[in-house]
Amino acid sequence: MIRIAAVGDVHVDKDVVGRYRPALEQLPDVADALLIAGDLTRHGTVDEAKCMATEFGNLAVPVVVVLGNHDHQSDQEAELSQVLTDAGIIVLEGDSTVLEINGHRLGVAGAKGFGGGFAGACASSFGEREMKAFVGTTEAVAEKLGAALRSTECDALVALTHYAPVPETLVGEPLEIYPFLGSYLLGQAIDSAPTALALHGHAHHGSERGRTPGGVPVRNVAHAVIKQAYNVYQLLSDNVDAELVSA
Ligand SMILES: [Fe+2]
Repeated sequence: MIRIAAVGDVHVDKDVVGRYRPALEQLPDVADALLIAGDLTRHGTVDEAKCMATEFGNLAVPVVVVLGNHDHQSDQEAELSQVLTDAGIIVLEGDSTVLEINGHRLGVAGAKGFGGGFAGACASSFGEREMKAFVGTTEAVAEKLGAALRSTECDALVALTHYAPVPETLVGEPLEIYPFLGSYLLGQAIDSAPTALALHGHAHHGSERGRTPGGVPVRNVAHAVIKQAYNVYQLLSDNVDAELVSA
């Protein structure tokens, strides 16, 4: 069995340091890895990244993250990623990592993702070049996520994004902003590989549970949704009824 702790949208700045740490110190008792679904900081500054590294660095379990839109706000995503990497945190963007856990290989493929909307109500690559650039950005990131998922050799495969791959986990958000919260192209990428679980954040007013058209369980782990330091999901569990138990 592999136990995955997950949260998103932790938005760390000076005032947040210390808030998560007591629960994070308990992680080895309840989970084998921690995955964070983006929006690690408020405004994507290096100072905030250092706060993030203080709060989530040097834990007793591996920590894997993707960046979110907030982490791009200051155009310092490379510096921000370096601060996190220096603290032992694995930062994914269109690539993957494999962790050895309890004799199993946990594969995590990650990308921030982008918007565009969902089947029947999505942006299309037509007209102005700005519109083509918007849709093209999502197409490119979805393609990289799919390629990373399909090329990862492991026993349990997890997709980690900031933006949502399905609309079900957005329920609670205004319908009008769905195209800015995720894209069905991310869901297609997830369905193109034997993905066991898809985690995302970004939608603070959304819902926890959904499923891709191909049947992959999707969990919105935004902190405002799960309302605790992290949820824990089980993969490769012996108990067939224990599908993705939420702690
Ligand atoms: Fe976000």
